[in-house]
Amino acid sequence: MSDQDQVKMTPMDYDKDRPEADNPVKIEDLTLRDGHQSLFATRGRTEDMIPVAEMMDEVGFWAVETWGGATFDTMHRFLNEDPWERIRTLKRYMKKTPFSMLLRAQNLVGYRNYADDVAEAFVERAAANGMDIFRTFDALNDYRNFETVVPVIQKNDKHFQGCICYTMTEPRMGGKVYNIDYYINKAKDLEQMGADSICIKDMAGLLAPYDAYALVKALKENVEPPIHLHSHFTSGMSPMTHLKAIEAGVDIIDTCMTPYAYRTSHAAIEPLVMTLLGTNRDTGFDINQLANINTILEKEILPKYKHLLDDTKVSIIDINVLLHQTPGGMLSNLVNQLREMDALDKIDQVYAELPKVRKDLGQIPLVTPTSQIVGIQTVNNVLFDDENERYKMITAQVKDLCYGLYGKTAVPINKDVQKKALKGYERGEEPITCRPAEVIEPELAKAQEDVKGLAVDLDDEVLYAIYPVTGKRFLKWKYGKEEPPEEVRAKTLEEGKAEEELIRKARAGLLVEKKEKPAPAKTENLRTFNVFVDDDSFEVGVDEIGGPPMVNYVQQMPAAPLAPAAPAAQTAPAAPADPPVKEAAPAPAAVEGTPLKAPMPGMIVNYEKQVGDSINEGETVVVLEAMKMENALPAPASGTIKSINFSSGDSVAKDDVLCVIG
Ligand code: CO
Repeated sequence: MSDQDQVKMTPMDYDKDRPEADNPVKIEDLTLRDGHQSLFATRGRTEDMIPVAEMMDEVGFWAVETWGGATFDTMHRFLNEDPWERIRTLKRYMKKTPFSMLLRAQNLVGYRNYADDVAEAFVERAAANGMDIFRTFDALNDYRNFETVVPVIQKNDKHFQGCICYTMTEPRMGGKVYNIDYYINKAKDLEQMGADSICIKDMAGLLAPYDAYALVKALKENVEPPIHLHSHFTSGMSPMTHLKAIEAGVDIIDTCMTPYAYRTSHAAIEPLVMTLLGTNRDTGFDINQLANINTILEKEILPKYKHLLDDTKVSIIDINVLLHQTPGGMLSNLVNQLREMDALDKIDQVYAELPKVRKDLGQIPLVTPTSQIVGIQTVNNVLFDDENERYKMITAQVKDLCYGLYGKTAVPINKDVQKKALKGYERGEEPITCRPAEVIEPELAKAQEDVKGLAVDLDDEVLYAIYPVTGKRFLKWKYGKEEPPEEVRAKTLEEGKAEEELIRKARAGLLVEKKEKPAPAKTENLRTFNVFVDDDSFEVGVDEIGGPPMVNYVQQMPAAPLAPAAPAAQTAPAAPADPPVKEAAPAPAAVEGTPLKAPMPGMIVNYEKQVGDSINEGETVVVLEAMKMENALPAPASGTIKSINFSSGDSVAKDDVLCVIG
């Protein structure tokens, strides 16, 4: 074939003879929120959404998800971006397509129930900044946690989408708790509350295709509002689940653009468009236009984020989700936690214990934040319980759950566990049965007082009210009162490409590892120089000690190839890197008595006793935070506190002696 015979390929005309569908499936695109939250630890920056925003606005999506979930947290904490500003900026580029956000009901965009005044102000401001659809969920499916936010959504004439978190206790939908009647009743409750649409939120990808068919059919028969399906790909079932749901008459499906699809994210839109082409559920989308968006994402945006993708596994499906019915993010959290405690060999015990703990805690769905609460308590039980005593170390969050602070569980909490958890609990030993926020004092006025002179408007104040520590730090960056650190800076496309090139070279064996050679100690005479070799630069330290100058370290700038960063789990709260852990500190030899050792690495929240205080065995001495859960550590013996070796905020290693009782 000569060159002249080669014709330039023109895109196929998919619209030729394409009939208009009677009932097109509507699509919500999640690329700009759940997509990068699931795959790239929520690190997507607004500047990387703008290049495709106008094109995406032309596709014809029912909605684009642009906010909520972990974005609010991650943006102000890690990206030095004002989360409110993102909505306003994207609105300038996307004028036609409604914006959707994920709202954790009374938890807003945080990890606990906030006071009603903060919840009202938050929804008010989200609506004013441009949010159109409020996808609202509660981790326990306790809709009393909707009672404050929903009227504000409705008062602002915005779309209230009510979620039912999908979970199960059996291999397939059914059993005593999460059976089809459960879901129908929940949907009826949402309809009663005035839901404009109802979303099945399948955060772990557990919804099997034929169950989806039965579920969607039943919901369509029993309630009026349109049915929307949000099903993560994690287990690999979701493309099949989508198709069966469509056959059953689902109205709206969630998908991502291909580069942000699959793994723990969602199925891609492009195969679905082609699957439905020419049918009565045809999306009507232009596949060529989607391809153009893909090209920009793939070539201009993704190189900046690829290092965040967990590419340690070849497989894109997490088989453990099918085996253990736990969200992918929760599993990686459990593994990390066990690794930190040198107990990875106990993973099978954790898998066996998990359903027991979940049952004890009322068979709650596993979604932020309940997945962490159940997961960490499970690990505590495996590590610390013995044949004589169960639930030896109960986290503060489990105590809150037992008190009723998260809401009502699907089945009652195990009475013995509840009693043990609430013994000495600060709010009271008798659990509440009212709506949880009723016991939370107003918080907004105090927050406003706290940031007087720093916050400029209500948006700033609400941000601070939800995230006091990182929120205040962000406001200082925002108003130039503090210099933001280097790590919150955006990575450029060039840096991303340079990194990839280094990784490619390393894979091809072209990067030679330096021989380990002990470096001589640096002295105060050390001087540093920048040395440039072609396009690479090195920082070189030169130490002159009585002889010729001697090079004692070479460090490549600005960044050597990164080890793949562990992406924050899909459902896990994004948290700053843990502070470095100190070496185990032995008990001072002079103090005699019974030591209380740290059972796990963590951070001291506070000591409840001082040196000289008398204490009874079992009383709380110190509260230790590990994996974002607080653990009250009891005294191993009765006596007097002889010494305290750390203070609030200190990081401790496993087996560090926290105090001595004599
Ligand atoms: Co999701």
